Amino acid sequence: MNLRGVVLAGGTGSRLRPLTKVTNKHLLPVGQKPMIYYPIDKLIGVGIEEILIVTGVEHMGDVVGLLGSGREFGCRFTYKVQDEAGGIAQALGLAENFANQQPLAVILGDNIFQASLKVHAQRFLSQGTGARLLLKKVSDPHRFGVAEIRDGKVLGIEEKPKCPKSDHAIIGVYFYDAGVFDIIRTLKPSGRGELEITDVNNAYIRKGQLACDVLDGWWTDAGTFDSLVRASDLVLREPPQ
Ligand code: G1P
Repeated sequence: MNLRGVVLAGGTGSRLRPLTKVTNKHLLPVGQKPMIYYPIDKLIGVGIEEILIVTGVEHMGDVVGLLGSGREFGCRFTYKVQDEAGGIAQALGLAENFANQQPLAVILGDNIFQASLKVHAQRFLSQGTGARLLLKKVSDPHRFGVAEIRDGKVLGIEEKPKCPKSDHAIIGVYFYDAGVFDIIRTLKPSGRGELEITDVNNAYIRKGQLACDVLDGWWTDAGTFDSLVRASDLVLREPPQ
């Protein structure tokens, strides 16, 4: 298939220190596997064969040592270093050569969930152009990108709003056409000094090219102590499909 996969596994893991003092957050255990296995399995489950892993320079050696060429997974890995933690959109910008004008399925390496991505990938491929996001109802929307929704359409997205306009979080699974790199080039750093994926998604909304689905089954991130414990508990109780 021409859809290519990207796992974004950078960042400093500051919310998980000291667990992340000498290793990358995405190598920490979730259930019986390192965290990064879960997003990789989701991409492979869609039928994706080419997967780019983006991570920081500090732990790239360990990431490559763990994952290897991809032979054991039935895919091919490409690796790219993000020199500094400059945000999710900056990390995605490093995927331009890898993407080679093909559409992308992008997963944040700390997003763990139950359902297969197959149906969402198919819908994205049949939409032909633009972007497709996945949403999930949560009890703590202020921790995430939050969608303002009217009549099933996303009108706008706010990153970690103090007063969320809905309880629908944007989860860390994004489908993009090759136009995403032109959008990333226009971005300016946010208040926290990062290129925000929320700004990329709002650019697609302004172009009228953003579609979305609600993800079935359970979903969690795993970037805080509470969510890391929850992720382990969920994968052991109700294993991902
Ligand atoms: C990131 C995104 C946010 C999204 C979340 C999903 O936040 O910026 O929009 O809802 O991932 O996990 P982060 O966890 O990097 O703070």
